[in-house]
Amino acid sequence: MSLPFRYEKLGYAALNVSDLDRSIRFYQELMGLDLVSREEGVAYLRCSRDHHNLVLYAAKTPGIKRAAYKMASKADLDLAFEHYKTSGLEPRWLAADACRALKQGPTFRVREPSSGLLLEFYDRMTHLALPYEHTVTKIARIGHIVIATKNYAAAIERLTSVFNFALSDFVEDKFSWMRCYPNPLHHSLAVGYSERNHLHHINFMVTDVDDIGKALNRMRKAGVEVVFGPGRHLPSTSIFLYFLDPDGMTMEFSFGMEEIPEQGGRLPRMLEMHPNTMDIWGSMPAERFGRGGEIEVVDHE
Ligand SMILES: [Fe+2]
Repeated sequence: MSLPFRYEKLGYAALNVSDLDRSIRFYQELMGLDLVSREEGVAYLRCSRDHHNLVLYAAKTPGIKRAAYKMASKADLDLAFEHYKTSGLEPRWLAADACRALKQGPTFRVREPSSGLLLEFYDRMTHLALPYEHTVTKIARIGHIVIATKNYAAAIERLTSVFNFALSDFVEDKFSWMRCYPNPLHHSLAVGYSERNHLHHINFMVTDVDDIGKALNRMRKAGVEVVFGPGRHLPSTSIFLYFLDPDGMTMEFSFGMEEIPEQGGRLPRMLEMHPNTMDIWGSMPAERFGRGGEIEVVDHE
């Protein structure tokens, strides 16, 4: 397989939230992210040495604002930009002051037109001097972003052929799990079919199975709605817990994930649409699982 550019990882998710203070408290105190800085209408949080792995924007309508991926090098970033341009999309470099505000090097954004998801690409982000200190959860990394779209087939086609996400597994016409090749993690982006375009969930991977059990009790005690799990996903083998943030957006903690090596990795499996695919332990999702949050569609600068 020869691909024109290489990813490094999912860098961060940018979310719109209706009450910034309330959401900062939730992500800091109940999920365990570290608040790096807060400015007018925006808050930067991290779960690594990166300046941010989650950015919250005060907005009327909650949802996902953009998904940002770190490329393997500046050469890969430039290749990606040219590739999107020649593929008929309209990538746009961010102005220097906007990159500075994000503490990132050169950055561009491009919209995936079928789902409306705005993707951001960069190759450098400020590495903070002090390590990320675990508080209530030993978060390892931001793991993946999942959206749902009514234009499912077209979105998957474009994300795999133009955006170079590698398909790991799929349920025909319903759900696709994709990795940002050559990153070995089973998925850093997943897309499901829905009757409308919306955010499905944001995932943070934890380092210990105890983080899942502790989060379950902490969320219940705080009155946070747990919408699915604890359970174990068949496709990725992850142990999971899903719960709702203050705007009703679904967040996930998961422990463990299959890794697919760059060379000699297995082919994607076509999985059966069956409750066991989502949870081999047999729990069932609640009504509000993966439903809250829009995909922001406004012209990006
Ligand atoms: Fe997930």
